[in-house]
Amino acid sequence: YSGIDSESRAPVVTIMGHVDHGKTSLLDYIRKAKVAAGEAGGITQHIGAYHVPHEKGMITFLDTPGHAAFTAMRARGAKATDIVIIVVAADDGVMPQTEEAINHAKAAGVPLIIAVNKIDKENADPDRVKNELATKDVIPEEWGGEYQFINVSAHSGQGIDDLLDAVLLQAELLELKAPATGPASGVVIESRVEKGRGTVASILVQSGELNVGDMLLAGAHYGRVRALVDENGQQVKKAGPSIPVEVLGLDGAPEAGEQVQVLPDEKKAREVAEFRQERDRDVKLKRQQA
Ligand code: GTP
Ligand code: NA
Ligand code: MG
Repeated sequence: YSGIDSESRAPVVTIMGHVDHGKTSLLDYIRKAKVAAGEAGGITQHIGAYHVPHEKGMITFLDTPGHAAFTAMRARGAKATDIVIIVVAADDGVMPQTEEAINHAKAAGVPLIIAVNKIDKENADPDRVKNELATKDVIPEEWGGEYQFINVSAHSGQGIDDLLDAVLLQAELLELKAPATGPASGVVIESRVEKGRGTVASILVQSGELNVGDMLLAGAHYGRVRALVDENGQQVKKAGPSIPVEVLGLDGAPEAGEQVQVLPDEKKAREVAEFRQERDRDVKLKRQQA
């Protein structure tokens, strides 16, 4: 995306980690703190992503459904996440899914930050987490390694501003840029069919500007954008880079991780969508025969 039209954009962050280590609690805390501070609107239910303003910049989070999307995107070779936060409970330490998440992020070439959560608990042992991760080649900065470890509590909120600072620092190093104008491209976070609304696809815009009325190709589906709904449930006319948005108007539900692209006309969009549908049918048929 280099070029004179590129502007800096918000980092897109996915939170991963072992079951019950506090991924959802952490996101909830961040979102509620920002909502309480009047910095963001309501609470998103479906979109699978939202962004929060911080004194030093915006951050977009892929929510829990985004976790599944991350896997799907990786399988498809799409890259939707700039930074992964690995949550490790300080009272439980490194667990199988912690390692899995780390391997996942490393394989995808995405920088990671370690959030050592539940620091408020009496039996919290953050040094043990450091030791355990160091043996897995995740060496803390203060030990001469490259990884930021931040002690946090999703209950008290301790350390969460430091965590957001760490994300923004990492984002600065990445020099994230994308054109803010021109035809949009992006990736599907999730999609579903809703009674009365038709296909609702959560899309992360990665480049350009998505507008109501655009002709959109999303995987093997297409359609004219009838409405765009932001993470607070408000209808909007457009969405730019790193902004998650619900798109109404597609002729079917594309899969998580599929690429999205605005095309100049309906004929082209239909051709590509039909080609992909046929290809998907062939793949399915071959699989059934095998
Ligand atoms: P899964 O999505 O099921 O994998 O879990 P999760 O990682 O999203 O964890 P979740 O946020 O559901 O938290 C699991 C439990 O840990 C809940 O009972 C939380 O209240 C508790 N918990 C999360 N964060 C903290 C924390 O910072 N301190 C304490 N004391 N408890 C926490
Ligand atoms: Na849980
Ligand atoms: Mg959860």
